[in-house]
Amino acid sequence: MGSPAQPSEFGSRPPNLRGYPGAMPADSSLISVTAKIAAYYRQFSDIPFAQEVAKRIGADAAFDQILTEHGLNKEKLTFYAPMFEARYKSLTQLILQSGASQVLELASGYSLRGLDLTRGGAIRYVETDLPNVVAAKLTLLDDVRNAHGIPRSPQHVVTTADALDFDQVRAAAAGLDPSQPLTVLCEGLIMYLSKEQTEQLAAHVRRLLQAFAGGCWITPDFTFKPDARDLPPERLRLREAITGVTQRQMDASSFEDDQDLATFLAGAGFNVQVRSQVDETPSFSSIQALGLSPTSIDRLRGLLRVWVMTATPERRSVPRRV
Ligand SMILES: C[S@@+](CC[C@H](N)C(=O)[O-])C[C@H]1O[C@@H](n2cnc3c(N)ncnc32)[C@H](O)[C@@H]1O
Repeated sequence: MGSPAQPSEFGSRPPNLRGYPGAMPADSSLISVTAKIAAYYRQFSDIPFAQEVAKRIGADAAFDQILTEHGLNKEKLTFYAPMFEARYKSLTQLILQSGASQVLELASGYSLRGLDLTRGGAIRYVETDLPNVVAAKLTLLDDVRNAHGIPRSPQHVVTTADALDFDQVRAAAAGLDPSQPLTVLCEGLIMYLSKEQTEQLAAHVRRLLQAFAGGCWITPDFTFKPDARDLPPERLRLREAITGVTQRQMDASSFEDDQDLATFLAGAGFNVQVRSQVDETPSFSSIQALGLSPTSIDRLRGLLRVWVMTATPERRSVPRRV
């Protein structure tokens, strides 16, 4: 999740985790509960299947538990809904605009974009997450397909892959066509990674794109240190709550500023274009549904961004003189 000040999920580091070494517990699955929070906020939008998903996975109960345990007021956090709506819809829009014929989504949680985009039959969609989420998602997908009479499609594959393990990511993409470009997506993952893991992820994505006929990596996940400062108390407490649940120092991978990110991406071998999630979102429905001020969208325009990256050509090694 994030703040109007940044497109991240539950952000700033509580004082007791400052210097938390690498912010790396052994178990990545602790992050998985955050997928229910994303699903919780999407239910206030007209995103396909979002309300149904939230009900089926018990998103309200999961979110309420976090709120109760940390004495948080749900009403003060409703502004997150349009942020999740923008994040989801802008990514979908960029995929459609790009004319991508195959997508690999890493850490897809309980988002049903894969089901939605494969209903037309023109896109092959492989989505991955950690084993616990994939198991629950397969059941969820069966239930949703049954309820709507949507047949299974060979174009849509849901499989386990740790995004930080290249062999698992490559295996997940093995059924896709290497003679075609590939669009790689991650939404709501990087803010839970350390800087080192973010480097690892970028290296994996680049390596994967090079095994295909090009393509791009789309993510709204990069965060910036200044954006996490001066947040209202309710937001800080929610971020602390999520840090407690996930045992992750949430902004460990955040960048100093745009230049710092540009340097990182250039070093990782990517050209980058930046867009506003708000501008790429065809319409907002959660604003009206929750009685929020339409001007809140304008405030989010410059803050919620999405990055579209292509791999730079491999650098040729210069023959050394002897
Ligand atoms: C905030 S949720 C976002 C889920 C989904 N993209 C969405 O927007 O609803 C973060 C997701 O990252 C997954 N995750 C965390 N670490 C991962 C890893 N190393 N490899 C793959 N998935 C991971 C979690 O299981 C969880 O589903």
